[in-house]
Amino acid sequence: MTDKRLLRALAGEPVDRPPFWFMRQAGRYLPEYRATREQAGDFLELCYNPELAEEVTLQPIRRFGMDAAILFADILLLPQALGREVAFRAGEGPVLEPLTRTEDIPEMNAGRLHDHLGPVYETVGRLSNSLPADVALIGFAGAPWTVATYMVEGGSSKDYAAVKGWAFADGEGFGRLIDVLTEATGAYLKQQIRAGAEVVQIFDTWAGALPAAWLEPLVFGPLRRIVADIHESFPDVPVIGFPRGIGAAAERAAEIEGLAGLSVDWATDPRWAAERLQPHLTVQGNLDPRLVVVGGEPMRAAARDILRALAKGPFIFNLGHGIVPETPPEHVGELSDLVRNWKAE
Ligand code: CP3
Repeated sequence: MTDKRLLRALAGEPVDRPPFWFMRQAGRYLPEYRATREQAGDFLELCYNPELAEEVTLQPIRRFGMDAAILFADILLLPQALGREVAFRAGEGPVLEPLTRTEDIPEMNAGRLHDHLGPVYETVGRLSNSLPADVALIGFAGAPWTVATYMVEGGSSKDYAAVKGWAFADGEGFGRLIDVLTEATGAYLKQQIRAGAEVVQIFDTWAGALPAAWLEPLVFGPLRRIVADIHESFPDVPVIGFPRGIGAAAERAAEIEGLAGLSVDWATDPRWAAERLQPHLTVQGNLDPRLVVVGGEPMRAAARDILRALAKGPFIFNLGHGIVPETPPEHVGELSDLVRNWKAE
């Protein structure tokens, strides 16, 4: 078996201490990221530049020694690879050409998809050669529902009026979009694994916007199909799901066949997660990123509380969502040291 802590935790094997990494660990809170991004031009150019994307992936590992590196890319490269227009405007976030009609749902074309995403696979390949031996490489993609929200809304949304309007009124038409995204996401993640990714995480950031009854067709169903698709070719590669904001329905996610890990948001009580989720799979989470902005004793106390509740079972320490740009890097260092030196009490 491997000596990489993250892979051991995902396989339910004993570890000397919980592995840790942080969502959005590469990003604007680091001055060296801002410098490399400047060099690349804009954010998308950085994503498609294998040398610079490798560099920003490695930056947090050099500083803080996390147990895993996450490929530097974005969930919105996939709609672009399907032929939709995507741009990132300063201060505005992502802007997409809104997809509103069944006739405009893109076709899945594996040749075009992999051609477009070639530089991402190259970044993965470079990283699998350059990472320290004990650091695991995580690939990722957005989940179909979350990617669909950006495609249909044309960007970030407050109320999901357009995408819910379509999903609730025309289950069959919208289901076709979800199907295309499910197939494309499986193909994309399998190619990342071929290039060297050892684990993959599927980000369903906006799962919590849905009523419970829609979680099965739009969130759990697609996740189950992507896990099965990956495992048909790569039975041993662990998949982590992150259906954010779904509350107690996380119990249903934890029962998805073959899912190795479930990332939970900060609103989830770690003791509840230990009792209800850990018997099924490895739990990942769930410090509020705002506590890392605050730092000091409030951050340390909250981190210890999570470790006390979850470190006995299969566990990966992480945040409940991504690091925010105003986070002082020293706080991330202090949090990393706290987890690294954790001894069961
Ligand atoms: O370090 C890492 O976590 C790896 C890289 C990564 C990025 N985006 C880089 C990024 C990952 C895993 C993502 C996932 C992603 N992207 C998600 C799912 C996770 C989540 O955070 O909810 C979503 C919803 C997106 C879409 C996206 N990308 C938005 C809405 C934005 C704009 C908001 C913002 O923070 O500016 C992005 C941009 C983005 N993706 C940045 C980074 C580092 C900031 C871009 C910049 O440098 O200005």
